[in-house]
Amino acid sequence: MRTQVAIIGAGPAGLLLGQLLHRHGIDNIIIEKHTPEHVLSRIRAGVIEQVAVDLIDEAGVGARMRRDGLVHHGTQFCVDGVRHRFDFRELTGKSVMVYGQTEITKDLMDGRAAAGLPTDYAAYDVALHNIFGAHPTVTYRGDGRSHQVECDFIAGCDGFHGVSRKSVPSGAIKTYERIYPFGWLGLLTDRPPVSDELIYVRHELGFALCSMRSPTRSRYYLQVSLADDINDWPDERFWDELRLRLDGKANADLVDGPALEKSIAPLRSFVAEPMRFGRLLLAGDAAHIVPPTGAKGLNLAASDVRYLSQALVERYKENSDIGLDHYSARALARVWKAERFSWWMTTLLHTFPDGQFEQKMQSAELDYLFKSRSAAAAFAENYVGLPF
Ligand code: APR
Ligand code: PHB
Repeated sequence: MRTQVAIIGAGPAGLLLGQLLHRHGIDNIIIEKHTPEHVLSRIRAGVIEQVAVDLIDEAGVGARMRRDGLVHHGTQFCVDGVRHRFDFRELTGKSVMVYGQTEITKDLMDGRAAAGLPTDYAAYDVALHNIFGAHPTVTYRGDGRSHQVECDFIAGCDGFHGVSRKSVPSGAIKTYERIYPFGWLGLLTDRPPVSDELIYVRHELGFALCSMRSPTRSRYYLQVSLADDINDWPDERFWDELRLRLDGKANADLVDGPALEKSIAPLRSFVAEPMRFGRLLLAGDAAHIVPPTGAKGLNLAASDVRYLSQALVERYKENSDIGLDHYSARALARVWKAERFSWWMTTLLHTFPDGQFEQKMQSAELDYLFKSRSAAAAFAENYVGLPF
């Protein structure tokens, strides 16, 4: 097989890139390790920045998001039982879209199928060859056969555990990492959300988050110990613990219900530099991870894909390598700002072991955030998304 761009991974980054390239007449094939059902079973965050919403529209798959997504003009913090609201429109003139990442993935998969574009699911033993040469190839197995794809470029969109970043010689890459000393226990339920806006909760028992997927489906999170097992958390214990961390009004408004999904995720900050190695270009979680506080993961994948698709369009349509040469630096400039914001929001709202001084810093920073319009505007500007 021969294509212009071989894309490894059918998560949001790979699928969005494939759709944007197709709209510019650039051939691509996606090679994905899992089945479509498995890809769609993963529950992830659901707050989309305006710039990412615009890109999803540009890819031609925004109709359902525009119809079913919830536009949020603000968010709330609940600190030791007291609520504070940040009004995005007043502070920034912008808003965000609440729409599940799983739904975006589904819309992108449907768009790809409708356009008749090739995707090889359930591919295993995926390997990248000759990334520093003029003719890279990707080999893999699937359907009981061996496959080889010849291409001009490989887009490594295969997430944190993928093969792409691992294919780079270790001396060519530098990584930066922080692992946080707690996890997030998430629960999805078919019950109306406790509030029509997200509530980020800072409490001495630990962080909590009240989020949603639709007017009838809510998503809640609790900060838990990394030593906890999901079996330690039957639904009743989850709801009891959440109630302890919420204020009186949220307690009165909370409607609990059986979990559709429940899982514990670790929190990590990670960046690999650079994001280009010869003809291999990394995008999304393959190159960087943010802790989920602030929901920047999908949004960063979208901004990488925007820079990368533009660079490839310039390569094929204008015969210019300038975009490709600048891809890594342009993407990383935005990545590091989102890393800073996600780290800051995580540090501000979670309980840290042995952190008496840090706790005082959190309180001082929160008080400043609630009293200073400039501080609130800086928070809101980052939350709704920095410009590309
Ligand atoms: N070969 C092919 N595909 C692979 C391989 C491999 N060796 N390893 C992993 N994959 C696939 C995964 O099965 C997954 O479908 O690559 C895809 C990567 O998707 P994501 O992990 O969703 O990463 P990305 O598309 O960069 O999305 C970034 O979505 O996953 C969230 O937390 C993430 O919010 C962030 C955003
Ligand atoms: C979510 O709905 O899953 C979500 C929302 C906001 C966050 C993180 C996760 O900051």
